[in-house]
Amino acid sequence: MAWLTIIVCLSLFVSSDGVLDDLPNLYGVAANLGCNQFLKLIEDAGMADNLNGTGPMTVFAPTNKAILSLPPDVLARLSSDKDLLKAVLSYHFTTDVFNSTTYVNEMLIPSEQGANIRINAYPQPQPIVITASGAQIIVKNIQAKNGILQVISKVMFPLPNGTIFELVTNDLHLSTLFLTIVKANLGWALSSPPLTLLAPSDDAFSKLPAGTLTTLLNDIPKLKDLLLFHVIGGSYYSAGFVNNTSVTALNKGTLNIQISSGNIFVNDAMVTTADVSVTNGVVHYIDKVLIPPSFYH
Ligand SMILES: *[C@@H]1O[C@H](CO)[C@@H](O)[C@H](O)[C@H]1NC(C)=O
Ligand SMILES: *[C@@H]1O[C@H](CO)[C@@H](O)[C@H](O)[C@H]1NC(C)=O
Ligand SMILES: *[C@@H]1O[C@H](CO)[C@@H](O)[C@H](O)[C@H]1NC(C)=O
Ligand SMILES: *[C@@H]1O[C@H](CO)[C@@H](O)[C@H](O)[C@H]1NC(C)=O
Ligand SMILES: *[C@@H]1O[C@H](CO)[C@@H](O)[C@H](O)[C@H]1NC(C)=O
Repeated sequence: MAWLTIIVCLSLFVSSDGVLDDLPNLYGVAANLGCNQFLKLIEDAGMADNLNGTGPMTVFAPTNKAILSLPPDVLARLSSDKDLLKAVLSYHFTTDVFNSTTYVNEMLIPSEQGANIRINAYPQPQPIVITASGAQIIVKNIQAKNGILQVISKVMFPLPNGTIFELVTNDLHLSTLFLTIVKANLGWALSSPPLTLLAPSDDAFSKLPAGTLTTLLNDIPKLKDLLLFHVIGGSYYSAGFVNNTSVTALNKGTLNIQISSGNIFVNDAMVTTADVSVTNGVVHYIDKVLIPPSFYH
């Protein structure tokens, strides 16, 4: 912990000219914080010079655990495809100087990769949770000579590169959802920012009682109501979900959040894939279609 004392001590003098020069650059700061896996990827991508550049810049460094817990196929792809690795790592760099104390919820910061990094702040659970494209910032605002380092809980992925509606359009497992959205003419609504979509897969739709889908497709107001029960205003990454709380969907219905053994449940549906970033928000895949309570009356 000695280095922490040194950094904290030095930061007291950051405002006086010259002392910033005594700080390590971002490479050194990341090394001091023990971000070895991140630095290893940086070295593999030949990007060490970027971390040692003159800056100023902000770098979001995933923890060792975040990198080591990536699925093996993702790690394998990153180590065999240098361009992909560079793109993913460049998404963690920005020439913006981002100090989390001056966050603005839903703020977009252009990354070096090109795609924006979305900043969110969730007032609950206390203390406030700040995320960068869904990855929680767990060590905040470490000053380096050439910028600021933020340590994050997950690797951020810039892809896919489209709106919620484009994601639904292109995902073959969401073909029923796509059909219903087109039928209800809600494509435009799902292209405006920022929103969260709880996306029932084709499997989820197949669990509906026989005839339900046909009935819905013939009753557009009801279909719209059902679809808007799957949409939340604002970007709710999983870091913003709090156990035993509720959120209001765009149809004004209530969605109850339960977290159990690391799984997130929204009403009786389970989130199967969380935190898929899109240009106008975030998508979580769910295993059941959410039925608005009014349907039972
Ligand atoms: C970057 O700077 C660190 C010291 O902060 C140094 O150890 C490392 O060799 C430098 N790497 C490059 C590629 O300049
Ligand atoms: C995604 O969009 C960004 C910014 O418009 C662009 O730089 C990048 O090349 C795009 N990536 C893909 C895979 O289309
Ligand atoms: C971030 O902003 C706060 C409040 O303005 C300031 O006290 C702190 O020194 C800043 N940190 C860095 C690393 O710039
Ligand atoms: C869950 O939330 C409800 C409603 O806010 C509250 O009445 C209940 O006590 C909570 N349960 C637990 C275990 O915190
Ligand atoms: C979530 O809240 C429920 C009450 O609604 C409680 O029984 C459960 O233990 C809580 N789970 C966690 C992970 O805290």
